[in-house]
Amino acid sequence: MMKTNPFKPTAGAEPPILVGRDVVLEDFEIGIEEGVGAPGRLMRITGPRGSGKTVLLTELGDIARRHEWRVVDVTATEHLPELICRRLEKTAGLDYSVELDLMVVKAKAQKDDPQQSEDIYEVMERTVSKLTKDGKGLLVTIDEVQDASIEDIRTIAVAVQHLIRERLNIAFVFAGLTAGVMNLLGEDGPTFLRRAYPEELDTIPIGEVAAAFQATFEKNDVQIDEDALTEAAEATAGYAYLIQLVGYYVWRSAQVRMGKLMKSISMEDVKDGVVAARREFDRTVLDTAIARLPKTAMDYLLAMAENRLASSTGEIAERLGISASSLSSTRKLLVSRQLIEPTARGYVDFSIPFLREYLIENRQALLARYGVED
Ligand SMILES: Nc1ncnc2c1ncn2[C@@H]1O[C@H](COP(=O)(O)OP(=O)(O)OP(=O)(O)O)[C@@H](O)[C@H]1O
Ligand SMILES: [Mg+2]
Repeated sequence: MMKTNPFKPTAGAEPPILVGRDVVLEDFEIGIEEGVGAPGRLMRITGPRGSGKTVLLTELGDIARRHEWRVVDVTATEHLPELICRRLEKTAGLDYSVELDLMVVKAKAQKDDPQQSEDIYEVMERTVSKLTKDGKGLLVTIDEVQDASIEDIRTIAVAVQHLIRERLNIAFVFAGLTAGVMNLLGEDGPTFLRRAYPEELDTIPIGEVAAAFQATFEKNDVQIDEDALTEAAEATAGYAYLIQLVGYYVWRSAQVRMGKLMKSISMEDVKDGVVAARREFDRTVLDTAIARLPKTAMDYLLAMAENRLASSTGEIAERLGISASSLSSTRKLLVSRQLIEPTARGYVDFSIPFLREYLIENRQALLARYGVED
């Protein structure tokens, strides 16, 4: 029988080993155990696409469930507070009192009652008091929170903050794209949420990636030597989605070469696998990320790609022959699309790994889209 490929290069899919998240998982667990007011009970997870936000939320939910907490997971959409209430009702089973409150919530929401937030608070309070009395608690997670309305987030934040003040067992974790979350928490965002424990999912150390690869191969009775292991780990750039892509395609190359007898992974398998992984990454991440950009934005990216490290915004303007001030909206657009990020005042760098390489390799084809010859 063929060995099953253990890697999972799919959004939201649980990886064979969750690399680089020990500290945050431990902090969350301590938060659950320690009691009301522990920092791990209020958390914000930020990172670019494919950095592992959704998977981390799932894992935190598992920890909470192991402590017999109830977990409500939602993805940002319209009427988020009402959705959370409906989910509470579902997980509460035939909890009559919650159901009654929900009818009140719905009725009031229809009339667009400004007191609506009080009602969401009441629904949560009833459930969480009961859970707390039984030594349990409630975890609410919101994914893709950058798509939520600021009013909804404020409503939920107010409710959660009240529950914490009442010493009830509530944990609240929200995850989203870095720039979007920062906007949400910006000037008139809820201060309470701005103080949430920040977990920014940036690069995972290559050493940890290598160790995870090795452990995954070993568990499946597959050998790999040191050089090949390092080569594979480095090709991931410490980026969660690439860990799965590289692992998956390296495994597949070895399997194509050896079939059922697959016992080891060679340097050649790694090299072939990395090429396939990068091709898939270009297709699923980078192509989509730069699709339909205005021409100035594309020019901006191509100008940045000429630098090996972070770019000075003044220098980019000079290179493009456009004044820095008239480029500021272009820069903002690129930041909001999570393609670039400020690294210091007046400096920006790419937010997605291999975007620079991709731009250099595809320069001609990209310019041709705008009818320009290089
Ligand atoms: N800590 C990790 N270690 C190894 N692989 C991981 C880790 N976290 C996530 N992955 C893998 O990375 C990929 C992306 O994970 P996930 O869908 O959670 O990312 P995301 O940040 O939610 O992305 P998006 O912004 O597109 O929703 C999946 O294939 C997942 O298995
Ligand atoms: Mg996600």
